[in-house]
Amino acid sequence: MNTVVQREEQFQLATYKKMPIVAERGEGVWIYTSDGDRYLDLYGGHAVAGTGHCHPHVVQAIRAQAEQLLFYSNLVYSTARARAAEKLVSIAPASLSKAFFCNSGTEANENAMRMARMVTGREQVITFSGGFHGRTADAISATFLGKYREIGKPNVPGHLQAEFGDIGSVRKIADESVAAIMLEPIQSMAGVRTAEPGFFRALRTLCDERGIMLIYDEVQTGVGRTGEWFFAGSAASDGVAPDIVTLAKALGSGIPVGACLVSEKVAARIKENDLGTTFGGGMVAMAAVTATLEAIANDRLLENVKTVEKYLRERLRDVDQVVAVHGSGFLLGIEFADKAAPVHQKLLERKIITGTSSDPKVLRLLPPLVLQTAEVDLFVSALGHG
Ligand SMILES: Cc1ncc(COP(=O)(O)O)c(C=O)c1O
Repeated sequence: MNTVVQREEQFQLATYKKMPIVAERGEGVWIYTSDGDRYLDLYGGHAVAGTGHCHPHVVQAIRAQAEQLLFYSNLVYSTARARAAEKLVSIAPASLSKAFFCNSGTEANENAMRMARMVTGREQVITFSGGFHGRTADAISATFLGKYREIGKPNVPGHLQAEFGDIGSVRKIADESVAAIMLEPIQSMAGVRTAEPGFFRALRTLCDERGIMLIYDEVQTGVGRTGEWFFAGSAASDGVAPDIVTLAKALGSGIPVGACLVSEKVAARIKENDLGTTFGGGMVAMAAVTATLEAIANDRLLENVKTVEKYLRERLRDVDQVVAVHGSGFLLGIEFADKAAPVHQKLLERKIITGTSSDPKVLRLLPPLVLQTAEVDLFVSALGHG
């Protein structure tokens, strides 16, 4: 392990505070290290391993596609791409009828904002306090969380901030210069905070009244994480579907892929060459998307998320230090009476990987959707011995 750590530290930019783990192999909710240890991964490889690590159906699909054709761009048609687009649209709210593929969450958000500006001919995008949308220039300028806009300076013009959950703060600034309102429907990094269903309904109404595009950044909440395929259209959203949904993270089970799902109204305005990306829609990524969605459906993982979430919430009632549990499905923020960082550290010593957040009292869980109650027991008992 030491030589791997030393070599990474010597040859890789130190942009992350890493856990002292050399991850060699994964299976389901488990990560196996070079030292022969295994870790329970309740952070899901950064919210990416939705189907679990190395789901056999996904691995097989990637392997088969890799042997057939690794890549060709959007200049040609492809069975793998046609399948992935059709499958993704088939599980989306009915009003979202077309997909645009890219490579990451930040890129999906950049393209979503660009489309909204093209459709409306306006420039401003309203985003929210506590929201995180990525690190490329426009997305980081839309991120009113912590120090991110500072890191992204000079910021791109065309961004306005409103208060998450406060429709009055949106109404005040949503004038005829506003192209889009974009939000993380559950703000993950902010400490897993969401708003009342009525807030989403009020945003939809406001957007319809004022000709504004509504964008949900579902980079974390999408593809089954909340126990629904998407937050868009769910009861938590009061059935509201936005004009654009952005996806990444778990969409390819670990193969980099992002997507925008858009309404007919948006699609009708987007022409040849308005958007583009070399790698977006590549065959291996597309095979991974289709297999990911198939695995979630075949293994009934949405149902599993709901059942195991309920069990986890019940078990957490017995843990004294836990003050509240925020979020939905397998995007959960466990709020402690005191700081969460020492809990994160203690769990790591007990070989359980969790996440922190920008709220110092909130520990974040983003486990694979395959998590079972027996593994919840391991986690709760490790917490209880805190
Ligand atoms: C809600 C949300 N949006 C966008 C992003 C950016 O995604 P990526 O890191 O794939 O660019 C993230 C990443 O953490 C995210 O959580």
